[in-house]
Amino acid sequence: MEIKRLKTKGETMIERAENQFWAYETGNNSDSKDLVLLDNVQFIYELSLAELELKALNVEFEVTNGLREFKILNKSNEQKELIKRKGAFYKTVGGQFTDYFQIIQRNQTRSVNQYLTHWIYPYKGKFHPQMIRALLNIIGLKEGETVFEPFSGSGTTALEAQLLGINFIGIDISPLCVIQGKVKTESIYVIDEIKKLKSEILANITPNLFQTNENYYNLLNILSKDERVKNFYMLARLLAVSDNSRRNRDFVNSFIKNVDLMILSIEDYVEIKEKLNLKLGDVKIEIGDSRNVKLPDNSVDGIITSPPYSIALDYVQNDIHSLKDLSYDVLKMRDDFIGVRGNGKNKIELYNDDMKKSYKEIYRVLKTNKYAVIVIGNATYQGQEVKTVELTIKFMEGLGFKLEKNINKIIFGLYNVMKKENILIFKKVK
Ligand SMILES: C[S@@+](CC[C@H](N)C(=O)[O-])C[C@H]1O[C@@H](n2cnc3c(N)ncnc32)[C@H](O)[C@@H]1O
Repeated sequence: MEIKRLKTKGETMIERAENQFWAYETGNNSDSKDLVLLDNVQFIYELSLAELELKALNVEFEVTNGLREFKILNKSNEQKELIKRKGAFYKTVGGQFTDYFQIIQRNQTRSVNQYLTHWIYPYKGKFHPQMIRALLNIIGLKEGETVFEPFSGSGTTALEAQLLGINFIGIDISPLCVIQGKVKTESIYVIDEIKKLKSEILANITPNLFQTNENYYNLLNILSKDERVKNFYMLARLLAVSDNSRRNRDFVNSFIKNVDLMILSIEDYVEIKEKLNLKLGDVKIEIGDSRNVKLPDNSVDGIITSPPYSIALDYVQNDIHSLKDLSYDVLKMRDDFIGVRGNGKNKIELYNDDMKKSYKEIYRVLKTNKYAVIVIGNATYQGQEVKTVELTIKFMEGLGFKLEKNINKIIFGLYNVMKKENILIFKKVK
């Protein structure tokens, strides 16, 4: 069953704007409009990241017109091209749309930051992708260098690094996270096989097929030998499992709808990659434990991560339906997940010990004079604030890091346990 590809709102907008440029650029194209911020940039922390990003790209600038426009003081074509290709917060540079503006129009969801394949699977606690793109630039990572994510979660950093041509190595203790990261970044290479398999799977749909996970996973093994294709259809099933158990949606309908949307998103990615001539970074994601990382000393050029927020989210409980569907022993799994073991005071002590081990590993694998970004907040547990931010800073400084920046960022959701988080940028100085 082929679904007709409708234009997304973003595509319609961009087409219109390309024909009628005045829709975006009113008045003359004066110098004060060298750089125009994207409309979704609304918070102070975003403006401060936008400024740090420009500094990292060696741009001297002046903020004009109510903070939304910048004048470039040391203009050169090379530099404009750099901002156009890499920048995270700008809609136009010298009147030209940035790559990022064009990328975020490829969005099959209603959520502004869930463009391309970012939306696939409703994982709680995702990074804001735009912030990650900016941080990759701020810490000076270049095409061909490697960023490491010891808690890679839903794969936000993986996809953003890939888009910028930066190589990515990620680990997560959760097999569900590993599948998410892989599907978001690997499906583009096998989109034709994925589309071909769709009709075969749909032809096999009987009530029986979805009743047990074994029936379905066995069928996948028969129909494809390619792990990337199998991962795609595994995650499509898990999305339906999640829709069904969390939102009571009909399983088969949800499965079919998700497969179609996932395919459209991957096609979006393939198209924009070609249109913008993106050279993608290599991505490697595996199951792994941040307390014992299988990477050599001084081997990565940067680290960007957000560890589990002590007790703010129970990552096992959150995804219990999908983990059970993958036949994991969820009780046993809890032993290795940071932040979910123990009770009361003991829970926080275990968390702090585990995080110290993880921070030591971050120090060990990072090259000297390179940066580690840790996004973390203080949660309230049993009526008391747990000082995770302060503990992180103190411990990291003890290891040989210097805190270069500490940016406050508000967060939506989780309001009862956490209201803000901090973007901590450390440099490994010794
Ligand atoms: C805050 S989330 C990361 C979210 C991620 N930044 C994103 O954008 O989706 C923390 C992650 O740490 C993982 N985790 C917990 N214990 C771990 C361990 N011992 N080793 C590696 N990952 C672990 C959890 O599975 C969870 O995905």
